[in-house]
Amino acid sequence: MSYNDNYSLIAYGQMIEDLGRFQPWLDALRRHIHEDSVVLDIGCGPGAMSFLACRFGARKVYAIEPDGSIEVAKRCAAGIPGADRIEWIRGMSTQIDLPEQADIVVGDLHGNLPFYTSNIASLADARKRHLKPGGILLPRRDQLYAVPASAPWEIDAIEAPWRRNALDLDLTPALSMLVNQFWRARGKETDAERLLAEPAHWGTVDYHAAEETRGLDSTLDWTLDCGGRVDGLYVWFDGEVDTGLGFSNSPLLPELQYGRAFFPLEHPVDVHAGDRMQTRLSVRRMLDNWVFRWDTRITDAASVTKASFKQSTFRMQPEDLALLRKSDASHAPVLAEDGQIRLMVLSMMDGQHSLSDIANVLLARHPKQFRNFEMALAEAASCSRRFG
Ligand SMILES: C[S@@+](CC[C@H](N)C(=O)[O-])C[C@H]1O[C@@H](n2cnc3c(N)ncnc32)[C@H](O)[C@@H]1O
Repeated sequence: MSYNDNYSLIAYGQMIEDLGRFQPWLDALRRHIHEDSVVLDIGCGPGAMSFLACRFGARKVYAIEPDGSIEVAKRCAAGIPGADRIEWIRGMSTQIDLPEQADIVVGDLHGNLPFYTSNIASLADARKRHLKPGGILLPRRDQLYAVPASAPWEIDAIEAPWRRNALDLDLTPALSMLVNQFWRARGKETDAERLLAEPAHWGTVDYHAAEETRGLDSTLDWTLDCGGRVDGLYVWFDGEVDTGLGFSNSPLLPELQYGRAFFPLEHPVDVHAGDRMQTRLSVRRMLDNWVFRWDTRITDAASVTKASFKQSTFRMQPEDLALLRKSDASHAPVLAEDGQIRLMVLSMMDGQHSLSDIANVLLARHPKQFRNFEMALAEAASCSRRFG
C-alpha cells in the first residue's frame, strides 16, 4: 500500500506552529516517556514528535514516514540533542516489521475528519503488531459531532462559479456533483446563532478498541431551536489524545490545522423553530475510499415533509461506478496500454539495461504515448525511482 498525502513542507510547518493541535500531543509524550521508553512515531513527517520523544528521554525512537519530509527530518536531526537515538525508516508502518515492540506508539494521522486515507487501519495495525502488551497508544479516541447550520458563505464560495460566472458560461450541470461532496469549512469560527440546533453526537472512533472502526452510521435527529435557512451540516471531531488531553474542532472555536467539514444540503431550506431535521449520516470504507452518505428529511411541526435529500460522495464522480465494477472480486481485468508500458519497463529493470535503453524501447513500441525521448525517459525514471 502506498501513501500519497502531498503535504508540503509549508503545511508541515503550519502543523508544528498550531499549538492548539500540538500541545495535547506534547503533553501526552511528556507524560508517558521515560528513560527506558521505546517510542514509535508513525507519520513522523519532518520529525517534530520524534525529536520531542528524545527530549523527554526516550531510549530509542523508530520514526516512520513514506513522504520525502523524512529526509528533512534527518537533516534537522544533526542539530538536535539525543536525535542519534532515532532510527528513520521511509515507508508505511503497515508494511514494516520492527526489531522490537514499542512502549509508546504515537501517530497523528487525521485529516479534516478521522476517516482519512488508511489512518484508522494504520493505527489498528500498529496496536496489534508494533505496541507492547500494556503499551500506550496515542491517540485514544475521537468523538464526532454534526449540527445543521445557516451558513450561506460555505455554499456561495464553492457554488458561485458553477451558478453564474464572469465568462457567462452555463456550468450548472456540475452542481449535482458538487452537492455530493463535502469540503473544508472556511477558517473563521461561526457565530453561535448560525447553528440551528444543539450539536448531535454522531459516533466515536476508539483507537484502543479491539476492533478497528470501519465506519459510522447513525440517524441524527434535531428539533430546530430557531428559524432561518438551513444550508448544510458542520461535521467535526473532538480528539482525545490521552486521558484529559485533547482539542476541539468545533465550528464555534478558532480553527485548528485539521479544519472542520461542511456537508451541503442539495438545496437550502427555509425552516422555523420547532421544525425537525433528521439526517442519516454514514461513512464506510469501500476499497481504498471512505464513502460518505447523508440522507436528510426536514418536517414541520405538523410532521409534513418540507424537504428530503439523498446525498453521497459516491455520486460525486461519474466514473466511480466504472471503477467499482473494475474492483469487484469476480472481475477478470485486462492490462490496458498504460499497464503494458509499466510491465515492460519493470521487466527491463534487471541491472543490465540503462534508463536510456528502456526509453528507446518505449519510444519504438509506443510512439503515440511517447512523442519524444524525454517523455519516454521520464516514464522510465519514474519507475526507477518508485520501484528500483
Ligand atoms: C498529519 S501529518 C503529521 C506529521 C507529524 N507527525 C506532526 O505531527 O507534525 C501525518 C503524516 O503521517 C504520514 N502517514 C500516514 N499514514 C502513515 C503510515 N501508516 N505510516 C507512516 N506514515 C504515515 C503521512 O505521510 C503524513 O506525513
